[in-house]
Amino acid sequence: MSTPVVAARDLTQIYTVNRGFLRPPAKLQAVTGVSFDVEAGKTLAIVGESGCGKSTLARMVTLIEKPASGALTLDGLDAVAPPSGEAKRLRRTVQLVFQNPYGSLNPRKKIGTILEEPLVINTTLTKVERTEQARAMMAKVGLRPEHYSRYPHMFSGGQRQRIAIARALILSPKLLVADEPVSALDVSIQAQVLNLLADLQDELRLAYLFISHDLSVVRHIAHDVMVMYLGHAIEQGPKEAIFARPLHPYTQALLASTPSVAAGKRKRIVLRGELPSPLDPPKGCVFSTRCPYVTERCRVERPAKRLLDGRLVACHYAERFLAEAA
Ligand SMILES: Nc1ncnc2c1ncn2[C@@H]1O[C@H](COP(=O)(O)OP(=O)(O)OP(=O)(O)O)[C@@H](O)[C@H]1O
Ligand code: SF4
Ligand SMILES: [Mg+2]
Repeated sequence: MSTPVVAARDLTQIYTVNRGFLRPPAKLQAVTGVSFDVEAGKTLAIVGESGCGKSTLARMVTLIEKPASGALTLDGLDAVAPPSGEAKRLRRTVQLVFQNPYGSLNPRKKIGTILEEPLVINTTLTKVERTEQARAMMAKVGLRPEHYSRYPHMFSGGQRQRIAIARALILSPKLLVADEPVSALDVSIQAQVLNLLADLQDELRLAYLFISHDLSVVRHIAHDVMVMYLGHAIEQGPKEAIFARPLHPYTQALLASTPSVAAGKRKRIVLRGELPSPLDPPKGCVFSTRCPYVTERCRVERPAKRLLDGRLVACHYAERFLAEAA
């Protein structure tokens, strides 16, 4: 087996939240004990409702934040405590693409300048070589040569996302973390950008961590899927297994709420109630306050994650759901 491009073990992030005058600050556990591997050329999609910890995970993997605990390796290097002299190589291994590229593209700079900047900082290439690389990258992402001297505001949303992808790839990273990269785009444009990402992955053997709340997009692009709820990975494994036979009731509910991916004979679970506050998560199973199958046991005992039918799942009754699905 090859070394995974990214390996996360028990990643946990805790924030301190101020609650105003006279109240002590609270601890908010945004991500709890999350583990995964992504190999070169593969995509792990992370799905779950707003606030489940997707972007927090993205910030840890892209080295913007250090985890409170857990281990993270990028391309075999310890990313939490990098070996001395390796920090620069580590940073070049991973790049981030956001939902709204406009916010991260300097409006006063031409596209050529934006693409060449990372090369100025990180390489010893000459101006001519940098321009050559920027132009080659523009062609790779489907931008035209004349775009080189235009400014970000002169582009459409889809083109701006192409620019952001080009900038992310200019230093040849091995892992691209994409946080809702197409959710701000029209559906027709979404497909174009997703196809571009798939082509670039094939050509460059890139690993992707792809964050999305849209399961029809995930089905299109993912190899593996990880479903998060209140900071916990509650089900994760190959896309085929998860989409064909979701075993966790929360995964079942998510799939049932996306008509384009919901299978015909699957039971419809409708999510009821509000998402609990992450400052006061349920004691036993994190999903127990909204689960239609909840029992007394669920309210007191946190289900262990275990391998079942080709995926990891954390529900006391997953075996029963598997038997029913058969
Ligand atoms: N810097 C911070 N300080 C305190 N709490 C934070 C901070 N960043 C995130 N949180 C909290 O951590 C939890 C996870 O947030 P996160 O942004 O990772 O969720 P998300 O899954 O990306 O949500 P969305 O789909 O809305 O982008 C939330 O409860 C959020 O309020
Ligand atoms: S452990 Fe209980 S509450 Fe949690 S998902 Fe399974 S059945 Fe529902
Ligand atoms: Mg987010």
